[in-house]
Amino acid sequence: MAEEARLICAAADLEEAGRGVRFEVEYCDQAAPAFVLRYRGKVHAYLNRCAHLPMELDWREGEFFDLERRDLICSTHGATYAADSGACIGGPCGKTPLVRLRVEERGSSVYYLGSEDD
Ligand code: FES
Repeated sequence: MAEEARLICAAADLEEAGRGVRFEVEYCDQAAPAFVLRYRGKVHAYLNRCAHLPMELDWREGEFFDLERRDLICSTHGATYAADSGACIGGPCGKTPLVRLRVEERGSSVYYLGSEDD
């Protein structure tokens, strides 16, 4: 079921390829960690759950990008994901992507709109 838009953070909190902002969502009737970040000017959000094992990705709170600040990397075993789609592009995630969440930047704020399954 679709959720109402929920404020996550200020748009200014998300620098280009910078730290992500963690938030929590309800996914499959359970609370689940999630994050939002900015890449190539757009905001993208995913469940904070690696496709390899159900581990959170960030190596330090909000740090999801690799050293080149291009791809997202799992701190546990190094799976890498495309920042703009969540597609697995290397490592033990196989072909399984991150779970995408719907977010929208409106004015000076970023909102959560639900999961792509909604
Ligand atoms: S838990 Fe993420 S790569 Fe293994």
